[in-house]
Amino acid sequence: MSSPHIFIREAAMPDRYDLPTGFRWGVATAAHQIEGAVDEDGRGPSIWDTFTARPGTVRDGHTGAVACDHYHRYPEDIELMRGLGLDGYRFSIAWPRIQPTGAGPADPAGLAFYDRLVDALLEACITPLPTLFHWDLPQALEDRGGWLNRDTAHRFADYTALVADHLGDRVPAWITLNEPFVHMVYGYALGIHAPGRALMLDALPVAHHQLLAHGLAATLLHERGLDVLVSNNLTPVEPASPSPADLAAADAYDTLHNRLFTDPLLLGRYPDLTAFGTGPDLHGAVRPGDLDLITATPLTGLGVNYYNPTRIAAPTDPSLPFTFAEIPDVPHTAFGWPIVPDGLRALLVSLHDRYGTALPPVTITENGCSTTEGLDDPTRISYLSTHLDALATAVAEGVDVRGYYTWSLLDNFEWAEGYHQRFGLVHVDFATQQRTPRASYTWYRDLIAAHRARCAKEGSV
Ligand code: FCB
Repeated sequence: MSSPHIFIREAAMPDRYDLPTGFRWGVATAAHQIEGAVDEDGRGPSIWDTFTARPGTVRDGHTGAVACDHYHRYPEDIELMRGLGLDGYRFSIAWPRIQPTGAGPADPAGLAFYDRLVDALLEACITPLPTLFHWDLPQALEDRGGWLNRDTAHRFADYTALVADHLGDRVPAWITLNEPFVHMVYGYALGIHAPGRALMLDALPVAHHQLLAHGLAATLLHERGLDVLVSNNLTPVEPASPSPADLAAADAYDTLHNRLFTDPLLLGRYPDLTAFGTGPDLHGAVRPGDLDLITATPLTGLGVNYYNPTRIAAPTDPSLPFTFAEIPDVPHTAFGWPIVPDGLRALLVSLHDRYGTALPPVTITENGCSTTEGLDDPTRISYLSTHLDALATAVAEGVDVRGYYTWSLLDNFEWAEGYHQRFGLVHVDFATQQRTPRASYTWYRDLIAAHRARCAKEGSV
């Protein structure tokens, strides 16, 4: 029987051990989700400190004030990474630690923390892969309009230069932005995340200003001989039916979620946004020369964060050109996200088909699942293993994928869900900060070791 979904293929898949030699294994985290220590060593407030202080924004009033206390416990966390045998660690740098007010010289104490972190990673033979912006904008910049203000892109460039000048001798590759799509939609369109603005389609300039920030930062990184990636959340989009109305709605959603950021980055132009009430200038945000700047530095890699596909139907209210539909007959994570591993294959193949030679090598910079399971977490193991099989299938179908960073090393502060969604290979008891590796930790460690052993054997014949 054939699948009802375009992205569920029932053909045999190669297994995850078929991933190429040199494929890089990692884990991913983000500063505000793990560091804590929000008032220490001169760190300034970020939009997430302000947002979480407002009643009703985060489930049960949780905040990132302590999180996993990684700011103090990073040596223990790096030992956990060493135990996994990782090639790389994706983390983010907290801009408010480097520039507490979003401008001016670097705070030496802020830089010193990332010095310690990077040096300890290198000591453990783990390559640091920092993200420069994972949503924790200095509050002082939000007070001047945040990403609605074009000047924030220039402030981001200044911050990038400070950090790259300091760490660039030890850190070869950098991710400029994390999920600019989610930051725009959740933070500025819907107000579910910081800074909590509910502007709906008037949030679109936030897309352009983030891309401009990427372009400015990429130029500076490139001038310093550093590799540049950018990570976005992407999703394969399925129409709820073959009706022209559902197809048009699915196309509109695909444009917003997948093409709004990727087309300018790879093709140097915005997709047709008329369904969203704007021309290619995004409500006047785009100025002459901006798109050239965004594409001036070729990406070393495209970071793809994949969690689930999306099913779309014709709109039910006129304010948006689509509506979300349930994906039937699939299991869901504790977060309620549909589990569809083949969506990862479909997504990667569609990127390859859509962008052709303009697509740089891909790295999966996030993929993982939240469960309510304790230390024994078969659902997470199944999620990760089936997604890696799907990834191996995409590679067999010709997509150049260079690495996989699972989300996440530790249970952590999951934004609007607080500490309720647990994504970690390592369980964290937030009352005691006790870390305990789950079954998935051991499984991932063994997978990495088995892949390496297989590559070594193949290399020796
Ligand atoms: C992604 C975010 C990451 C984490 C995971 C679960 O959208 O980039 O910080 O919250 O979702």
